[in-house]
Amino acid sequence: MDITQLRESVERHFAAGPAAMGDSSALDTFLELRAALERGEIRAASPDSAAPTGWRVNAWVKQGILLGFRLGTLQDSSTAVLSFVDKHTYPLRHFTAADGVRVVPGGSSIRAGSYVARGVVCMPPMYINVGAWVDEGTMVDSHALVGSCAQIGKRVHLSAAAQIGGVLEPINASPVVIEDDVLVGGNCGIYEGTIVRSGAVLASGTILTRGTPVFDLVNGNILRATADTPLIIPANAVVVPGSRAVNKGSGRDWGLSLYAPVIVKYRDEKTDLSTTLEDLLR
Ligand SMILES: CC(C)(COP(=O)(O)OP(=O)(O)OC[C@H]1O[C@@H](n2cnc3c(N)ncnc32)[C@H](O)[C@@H]1OP(=O)(O)O)[C@@H](O)C(=O)NCCC(=O)NCCS
Repeated sequence: MDITQLRESVERHFAAGPAAMGDSSALDTFLELRAALERGEIRAASPDSAAPTGWRVNAWVKQGILLGFRLGTLQDSSTAVLSFVDKHTYPLRHFTAADGVRVVPGGSSIRAGSYVARGVVCMPPMYINVGAWVDEGTMVDSHALVGSCAQIGKRVHLSAAAQIGGVLEPINASPVVIEDDVLVGGNCGIYEGTIVRSGAVLASGTILTRGTPVFDLVNGNILRATADTPLIIPANAVVVPGSRAVNKGSGRDWGLSLYAPVIVKYRDEKTDLSTTLEDLLR
């Protein structure tokens, strides 16, 4: 099946609803889709300069991933000491030395239907979910999560405990995108389709969601998601967690402040120095 035929087949079986469960060609289609995802031939979202955000959601790929959940039956995959039960359509991926991906032992899982490029380093424990794309030279550090369909670029550092939220449904919703050469600091949380442009640096503890306004001190503007566009962090922005005063109602009377991510500067030589320390680990 070429990609066009695969797409037609996915769309047909997805549209069939529960009826797809008794149809063996639906499972064959899903297994082709899953293998193509793992080879990096298709992805849940692709760079597209014609799209307003620079990223196009491939809704049919996400339909195919959901089809896999519908078709899956529970399967026991326990080992001698640990018990596991999951949909048989999403077992764990197995790697060999020839794949060129280092997976250090200890509580890490990479689910079938994810793409992990050569040169990626995964430090335990970490998890990469279905539909995720993790590109060359990226480091997925301990306790980091790459949620479903998240698109992670080249040479990204997902620091310890960084959480990249999954976005599978609604089907047209953009996944979280972290472009090339981004540093996501420890304990960051990036959710709800946020796009972080290339070279940006998120200081540890930065949380970004659709509802989080980001204050750009360099350009004097406030970045927000709109009805049609996710929150977008500009290329090379250095974002740190800050706070802003509540200036109305009880919040003002009580002297409260709210969490506010702030762009303090755009990447410079000092930032490069602060963010290259871990290169030796790769
Ligand atoms: C963002 C970071 C890379 C620093 O970048 P930098 O370019 O060297 O930043 P600078 O030191 O020039 O700081 C620029 C401004 O931001 C402030 N700032 C820097 N880091 C900050 C932080 N984490 N929180 C709040 N403010 C911060 C500085 O005080 C400075 O403001 P000032 O000029 O008013 O004093 C660093 O703070 C960071 O978070 N690194 C990631 C650490 C991490 O998670 N490592 C992963 C290990 S697994």
